[in-house]
Amino acid sequence: AKLSVIIPAAGSGERMGADIPKPFLELGGRCILEHTISRFLNVRDIHQIVIAASSNYLPRIESLFKNFEEASVSYLAVEGGSERQYSIYNALQVIKDEVELVAVHDAVRPFIRSSLIEKCCEVASKVGGGVIGVPAKDTIKQVDEGRNITATPDRSKLWQAQTPQIFQKELLIKAYNSALADDFVGTDDASLVERIGGNVQMVEGDRKNLKITYPIDLKVAELILNNQL
Ligand code: C5P
Repeated sequence: AKLSVIIPAAGSGERMGADIPKPFLELGGRCILEHTISRFLNVRDIHQIVIAASSNYLPRIESLFKNFEEASVSYLAVEGGSERQYSIYNALQVIKDEVELVAVHDAVRPFIRSSLIEKCCEVASKVGGGVIGVPAKDTIKQVDEGRNITATPDRSKLWQAQTPQIFQKELLIKAYNSALADDFVGTDDASLVERIGGNVQMVEGDRKNLKITYPIDLKVAELILNNQL
């Protein structure tokens, strides 16, 4: 099944405390986004790569594309929105007609393995959606506004959702349109599909699929890159 990947890269990077957005921070001589893009180039059936970024970074992305000359893949950059979800919504508008599966993958997860992306595609093709994740390591608490603990869900049933999250195209588009119509804003893509009754399965990934969010993550990323982890 032909695959498009949407890579949201329009975040501001507040938690990193840097003055440029995280996807454009340097990691071993290339920016993080460049590493992330390269992970999709040898995925089976990859057809299109769409990056959402803030308008002042669009020229930079266009020039980045020149480093990737995979003939069978088409590259496009679109303007992001005020929330991750709106960035992805904008990117969904340019997905090619012939594409059957759409993956959403955070720009700041540069260590995803191609074999896992393919495994997730297989699950999405079969059931509707697949999400890469790992079993929760910490006990997770639910709290109220006063931080009083109100619940402790059974950890054996909790997974941490990462990306990619991959869906059959029509299902994902329907979920995004419905969320927009209802003003629902979620923190991942699967939550939008779940709320319209779509079937999404967890696909076990690995803990190297780090989300570079805080300065400590950048240190860990350097270790992973240098094969020290
Ligand atoms: O901030 P958050 O952890 O949700 O960011 C996850 C990904 O979404 C990052 O790659 C970030 O660049 C992207 N993002 C976006 N548009 C926003 C906010 C975040 O594309 N408005």
